[in-house]
Amino acid sequence: MLDRALLARYLRQRAELGERELFLEGCSAEELLAALASSPPPTEWESGTAGEREKPATSSAAARASMLREVLGPLPAGIVGGAARPEVAAPPAGAISLSPALPLSHSAESAQPSPKPSPLQVLGEQARSCTACRLSEGRRSVVFGEGDPAARLVVVGEAPGQEEDRTGRPFVGQAGKLLDLLLMSVGLPRESVYICNTLKCRPPQNRNPLPDELAACSGFLQGQLSAIAPSVLLAVGKFPAQSLVGSEESISRLRGRLFRYRGIPLVVTYHPAFLLRSPQWITTAWEDFQLARKVLDEQA
Ligand code: URA
Repeated sequence: MLDRALLARYLRQRAELGERELFLEGCSAEELLAALASSPPPTEWESGTAGEREKPATSSAAARASMLREVLGPLPAGIVGGAARPEVAAPPAGAISLSPALPLSHSAESAQPSPKPSPLQVLGEQARSCTACRLSEGRRSVVFGEGDPAARLVVVGEAPGQEEDRTGRPFVGQAGKLLDLLLMSVGLPRESVYICNTLKCRPPQNRNPLPDELAACSGFLQGQLSAIAPSVLLAVGKFPAQSLVGSEESISRLRGRLFRYRGIPLVVTYHPAFLLRSPQWITTAWEDFQLARKVLDEQA
């Protein structure tokens, strides 16, 4: 079942990112237009225009859980980034034109070609040749991070997994798809944020990061955060949460609260891989994503 409101919001977000064409697998242009025509306009909360934020109409726990069930329902793969992540291409059929609008990032500089590598690019090059810990021996890729270098929200995960090591991109496996959905559900498409990890190389068999590996890699994360200077940080999972908060408390004690990392507001939540195994916590995690969004709006 196609969730029309979600689809409409997704299309608006892609349009806000400047995309003019979109290919949605399993969905014709007529279906999309019909869905858009029958959807209500975005609320102020969704469109990010309100000053003091009200929660959306779905603020009761039951309504939120129900919306999330719909969000996580069997949407066409092209809409939520399944095997065919909705990359912009020149599709022969099913293409729909979107009206351009303003981007979400706080700087237009990211769109300008730069003759000189930026501090973030220099740091990425340094990471790609790093041999500071044992993880450099078994890696296929250094997964430095990706997204808008002027993003207002930075998501910090734990460490690359198999798919990330293979592709060199963070959060592209199953956990990444859930992360994309949760971000999108609070009006933040993946492309509008920056995503990275505490470790840039995959630990063998996805074992937990070791303290000396976290220490060896911490300079890269600090450098990324200094270069991007986001308004809000969202740490997903125990290791990024504990290292950024500077605490050994469990996620269940840390989540739902607002911390600061070097002055930047910090929200922590469960790791999407954990949520895939324990979906009963997804609604709780969603509240944390909403908190991050609320803090972001308040910083604007
Ligand atoms: N889990 C993480 O913490 N990071 C990734 O990039 C992928 C899975």
